[in-house]
Amino acid sequence: MSLRRSPALAALFPPRLSQLLGPIIVAGSIAFIVALIVITSGRLDLTASTPHPEGWADLLHYVFRRSVAHHAADLKPPADLDADQRVIKGAVYYSRVCANCHAAPGFGQSPIALGLRPQPQYLATQIKLFDAPQLFWIVKHGVKYSAMPAWPTQDRDDEIWSIVAFLRILPRLDSARYLALAGATPDPAAAPAPMTTEGSSHPDIVMDSAGPLPAAAYSTARPAVAFGRGTVGADAAQACVQCHGSDGAGRPGAPFPNLALLDRVTFKKAVTDYATGVRHSGYMQPVAAQLTDVQIDALAVAFTARRRMPAPQFAATPAQLAAGEAIAIGGVPAGKVEACQNCHEINRADHKFYPAIAGQNRWYLRDQLQLYRAGHRGLDSPVNPMPRIAHDLDDAQIEAVSAWYAAQPPEAPQPVAEKPGTAATKR
Ligand code: HEC
Ligand code: HEC
Ligand code: HEC
Repeated sequence: MSLRRSPALAALFPPRLSQLLGPIIVAGSIAFIVALIVITSGRLDLTASTPHPEGWADLLHYVFRRSVAHHAADLKPPADLDADQRVIKGAVYYSRVCANCHAAPGFGQSPIALGLRPQPQYLATQIKLFDAPQLFWIVKHGVKYSAMPAWPTQDRDDEIWSIVAFLRILPRLDSARYLALAGATPDPAAAPAPMTTEGSSHPDIVMDSAGPLPAAAYSTARPAVAFGRGTVGADAAQACVQCHGSDGAGRPGAPFPNLALLDRVTFKKAVTDYATGVRHSGYMQPVAAQLTDVQIDALAVAFTARRRMPAPQFAATPAQLAAGEAIAIGGVPAGKVEACQNCHEINRADHKFYPAIAGQNRWYLRDQLQLYRAGHRGLDSPVNPMPRIAHDLDDAQIEAVSAWYAAQPPEAPQPVAEKPGTAATKR
């Protein structure tokens, strides 16, 4: 019997393709009705307590990886992605938030995280599957139908790159090094030694784990990371130490702002703005949102009563300092940028509501100026002069003026009468 005459094949390959339409419609309708019955019957098992059927999790993960690869294809990491201050900033966040689900070097996964489906992976061994842009995409946007959250704000790509910078070295960290980077070690003497400052400097950080990477048994390893590490306890000021240091001036090697400079009004406004999401930061919003007004008041009093300390220093070149000084004192005539000191020399009597920036952390200053320029700080009301000013500064000018201000001694405290309203509207 020739193939041509087989009735089954004749049905599959009819002389005219339009004759297929009928069978397709019938099959489609049957499939639709069956799917409808299955869905409405309630028999599908969507519980997290039962593992995914064989192969299903792999299929979903494959779809996820294809989607990430597609969407992240055009993303460009910053040139100084692996800079140490970025790695340290990422380590702190990882230890407070991500480790809750993904564990950490030397720490097992919480039984609560293991109850999620899909289960959060142990990232130290998993991270090699993704390049930097793909990690950025995952951390910024999270994963639908899983417990993987999007970044708390979609306006802070700089913060997300710090997480990526940390994830890239995570597989090479042992437990002690991880804790030191994250500032989570109970022994302050074990804090990380000051590191090099400029650009990519991985060779200077010896992070290769001495021991073997944890095996798949990480899921039952003890101690496990406990949920709630990042919560504010009874002593609210304790919740600030991991990032802002015990004296509020910041941590060596890290890009966190120096709170010891702020006046009470600026302090309260900043924390309240984070808490209400008016000012964007994945780092500060989750902390500030946990504070009551009474706690914010108490923190403002406590921090601003401290001695004004300079932030830990980062090396800057003499040329940078000279260029920065010129902008701060003389402005940029060509671009019509006003001298920063016109406003920020805070001890002039009529200038007391501008934030103090002499002695502020260099990387914090740089990041804020870039945020103002991009319109992402969240406070670009028409009365705020900073977006306009930053708009006229290029990258090199921002680096220079930040380096200069960071190297200045903080101005002596100025008694500031507390009045309601914003720094920007009080001009
Ligand atoms: C509440 C739990 C939870 C938190 C907090 C969390 N994740 Fe996840 N994450 C998950 C889950 C669940 C998945 C698995 C998604 C999947 O397999 O489709 C995941 C997936 C990932 C992946 C992809 C891993 C892979 O192999 O597919 C990365 C990367 C990741 N998370 C990074 C992070 C980072 C970085 C943080 C902190 C900024 C974080 N996660 C915070 C639950 C969490
Ligand atoms: C996880 C790290 C982290 C913790 C914990 C943390 N902060 Fe911050 N804080 C930051 C970062 C990062 C910024 C800069 C955010 C930005 O770019 O807007 C910041 C900014 C601030 C600012 C604004 C500074 C300025 O010059 O405008 C204040 C005020 C502040 N934090 C207070 C606090 C207080 C009070 C606590 C404790 C209750 C605290 N922070 C806990 C990381 C942290
Ligand atoms: C016309 C007055 C004025 C001038 C000139 C000015 N600033 Fe500002 N600056 C402000 C005000 C007002 C704020 C507070 C704005 C806000 O709340 O966002 C501010 C905030 C800042 C901040 C954020 C501080 C913090 O703690 O988060 C930085 C950084 C800054 N200015 C840097 C500069 C630099 C650098 C220059 C010069 C290139 C400059 N400013 C020039 C008025 C000024």
